Amino acid sequence: MEEKKVMLSGIQPSGDLHLGNYLGAIKNWGARAEEFECFYFMADMHTITVRQNPADLRRRTLEQLAQYIACGLDPEKNTLFIQSHVSAHAQLGWVLNCYTMFGELSRMTQFKDKSAKHKDNINGGLFTYPSLMAADILLYQPDFVPVGEDQKQHVELTRNIVQRFNGIYGDVFKMPQPYIPKAGARIMGLTAPEAKMSKSVPEGCVFLMEKPEDIARKFKRAVTDSDTERCVHFDPERKPGVSNLMNIYCAVTGKDRQAVEAEFSGQGYGAFKTAVGDAVVETLRPIREEAARILADKAYLEKVYTEGAQKASYVANKTLRKVYKKIGFVAR
Ligand code: TRP
Repeated sequence: MEEKKVMLSGIQPSGDLHLGNYLGAIKNWGARAEEFECFYFMADMHTITVRQNPADLRRRTLEQLAQYIACGLDPEKNTLFIQSHVSAHAQLGWVLNCYTMFGELSRMTQFKDKSAKHKDNINGGLFTYPSLMAADILLYQPDFVPVGEDQKQHVELTRNIVQRFNGIYGDVFKMPQPYIPKAGARIMGLTAPEAKMSKSVPEGCVFLMEKPEDIARKFKRAVTDSDTERCVHFDPERKPGVSNLMNIYCAVTGKDRQAVEAEFSGQGYGAFKTAVGDAVVETLRPIREEAARILADKAYLEKVYTEGAQKASYVANKTLRKVYKKIGFVAR
């Protein structure tokens, strides 16, 4: 039998998961398990490049795991793990630091943005973060790395590292491909639809665990557009707010754009916004309830992340041993 292709991705547990994470990423991951061998992890090591409150980091990491499972990532079919539990990430991260150029790291837009935002804490980890991310990826020899547009540059850098490393030592790493979801799955903020939905703009962001009445309120207050047409029509250039709401509505109901335009023809934006809010509430309700139930079951969660770390370590250590041998470290 032909081997399954491998897919890997991670999300930093530095904030609560939101509708953009779900529709743009996690929802699609869940559907891939039949076709791909999938690894998904909580990137806790990456979060400390920015100062974290320890209790919050611990809580969020477990919440995120519970939410992944509630979103449909079955731990029997996917390897779900916590990054810091698999020591090979730190180990390969160090090695790859030595194969990543200062100039390359200096060009990373995320580094420039974050160092501008946290001027009092421009630490070495913030700078070398992309070589740790390259290690996260390359340890599992994935074919595809599903990431948002903002992470594409890091995957490109990973590809450069592969070329450099394999150029010296032969075929050690598989060349990974970024896997960017289609534009339809890119969810924008509800209050400023020009920018991606983000936890840093909480009024425009719908969190997975949020109460139904708060979700409904956020949709009622969503920015629509000031054009005179006032009709539900898809046009991201001229009607970014309405188009974003349409994307969300299509994603949660499975309807296509024509059907949605027809459904709301002749109605104002108010009715449309209420309908989108209601549909999102109903989509998130079972996820929220399931996540709360899983989170309360500490023994189950512990079993999932322990087994996940075991499976991940097995694969990761195989790659690490190969790398150590190639670069000349004495085998233990
Ligand atoms: N850097 C990613 C982010 O901030 C998270 C991440 C860490 C990741 N390691 C990864 C994503 C490896 C994909 C693959 O969103």
